[in-house]
Amino acid sequence: MKGIVFDILRDMVEESYGLEGWNSILEKSGSNGLYISTESYKDDELFSLVGAASEITGIAVNDLVFKFGEYMVSQFYSRFPIFFDRSKGLIDFLLSIDRIVHLEVRKLYPDANLPSFNYQKGDDSSLTMIYRSERKLCRLAEGLISGSAKFFNQTYTMNHDPCMHHGADACHLKIQLTGEANGI
Ligand code: HEM
Ligand SMILES: [Zn+2]
Repeated sequence: MKGIVFDILRDMVEESYGLEGWNSILEKSGSNGLYISTESYKDDELFSLVGAASEITGIAVNDLVFKFGEYMVSQFYSRFPIFFDRSKGLIDFLLSIDRIVHLEVRKLYPDANLPSFNYQKGDDSSLTMIYRSERKLCRLAEGLISGSAKFFNQTYTMNHDPCMHHGADACHLKIQLTGEANGI
C-alpha cells in the first residue's frame, strides 16, 4: 500500500484518539511510523496497524476497515476534488472509479496496487460493481461506497453476494439507491 493510505489512517486515529493513540498503535504493531506518501509499504504492515488499532479501541477489524473507507473519501475529496466535482451523483462517480479515478491514480503512483472493477448497469438507480483484488478488501470498498454516498447526499441499500471471502472469484456489490434523491 502507498504511504498516502497510512497517512490517512494516522489522521483518522488522531482525530479520535490523539497522537497518543496513534503512538500506542505504532508501538503495539512494532512500526516506526515513518511513511512517505508516494512510497510503497507492505500490506501486512497496514493490516497489523489495523489489528493493533482494533485491540486498543475494542472496535472489530471489519468495522474499523469500513470506517476507514468512509474516512478515506473525505480525505480523497480534499486531495482530488476534481473526481467528485465532475460526477453527477453516486452511481456516476462509482462508474468513473475504474476507468478514470484509479487510472489517474496509477499515473501518479505507477506501482500502486489498485483493484479492478467491472460494472453491471441496472436502471438509473442501481449498479453492480464486480470487485477483484488478491487483497480481498471488499469491506474497504463497502466503506468507500458508503462515504461516497454521504458525500453526494444519497442513500442506498447494498447486496454483497457472492463474496470472495465465501469462495467466489469476485465480489458483487449491488447498490440500489433509495429515498428521494434517486437517479444517477
Ligand atoms: C477520488 C476517489 C478515489 C481515489 C483518489 C482512490 C485512490 C486509491 C488509492 C491511492 C489506493 C491505494 C493504492 C495502493 O496503496 O497501492 C486505492 C485503493 C483502493 N480503492 Fe480507490 N480511490 C478512490 C475511490 C474509490 C472508491 C469509491 C472505491 C470503491 C468502490 C475504491 C476502491 C478501492 C479499493 C477496494 C482499494 C484497495 C486496494 C485493493 O482492493 O486491492 N476507491 N484507491
Ligand atoms: Zn466480498
